[in-house]
Amino acid sequence: MSIVLKVEDLDVFYGTSQILFGVGFQVERGETVALLGRNGAGKSTTMKAIAGLAPPRRGRVELRGHDVAGRKPHIIARLGLGFVPEDRQIFPEHSVEDNLSIGHKKGPEGQDDWSIARVYEVFPLLAPLRHRMAGRLSGGEQQMLAIARTLMGNPTAILLDEPSEGLAPIVVQRIGAFLRELRTTGATVLIAEQNMHFCLGLASRVIVIDKGQIVYAASIAELKANEDVRQRYLAL
Ligand SMILES: Nc1ncnc2c1ncn2[C@@H]1O[C@H](COP(=O)(O)OP(=O)(O)OP(=O)(O)O)[C@@H](O)[C@H]1O
Ligand SMILES: [Mg+2]
Repeated sequence: MSIVLKVEDLDVFYGTSQILFGVGFQVERGETVALLGRNGAGKSTTMKAIAGLAPPRRGRVELRGHDVAGRKPHIIARLGLGFVPEDRQIFPEHSVEDNLSIGHKKGPEGQDDWSIARVYEVFPLLAPLRHRMAGRLSGGEQQMLAIARTLMGNPTAILLDEPSEGLAPIVVQRIGAFLRELRTTGATVLIAEQNMHFCLGLASRVIVIDKGQIVYAASIAELKANEDVRQRYLAL
């Protein structure tokens, strides 16, 4: 197994307040890993630190062996990181298909695995929406589009910040199915979530963050069996 993303000893500050304390973990090729934690635990900050939006004061972020800590977001993206932030950042005035075309670029090693046709084939729910303005889509559809657009950039690793947030339960299920499809394509994914249940059957491993520190790392099965950790660190 090769390690695609390796985070070591990350300290992140906003101004003078320290938010992350020595955060470290790794994600192997083809894995889906869940970064779980309550409100304000530091999940988004961890993702922003990896993506270059909250540069760490200390520590390493290795993407396919390159140390990218503190580099600019567009450089990190070019080196193969795909990031879907909480606010999704699609282009609301463009059609679904235009959003996908805008996202198209080759991967860091020239990979060109994703085309608009393949997106529609793997995620058939998007196909009938192709001419719809992205701003008119529902929250769940926008989330799917944001993920698909990121895939069009042929990333080596994908960070998803709370893909289930703010969506109705039925839509959450649909996004879950969409992400299971994504997993079968061999993608390497780190998902930040408060919702442990959403990650069951989706992630193989979990990392739990609390007050800016990693407090637990295990398989999904171990977390399920560990009521103490669930009660202490996760919203139930
Ligand atoms: N721009 C900022 N300036 C100052 N403090 C911030 C900033 N953004 C986040 N914080 C603080 O950093 C801590 C971690 O926030 P973060 O957004 O990483 O948590 P989270 O785990 O993603 O939470 P949520 O589940 O609510 O999205 C919180 O205490 C938050 O108030
Ligand atoms: Mg967050």
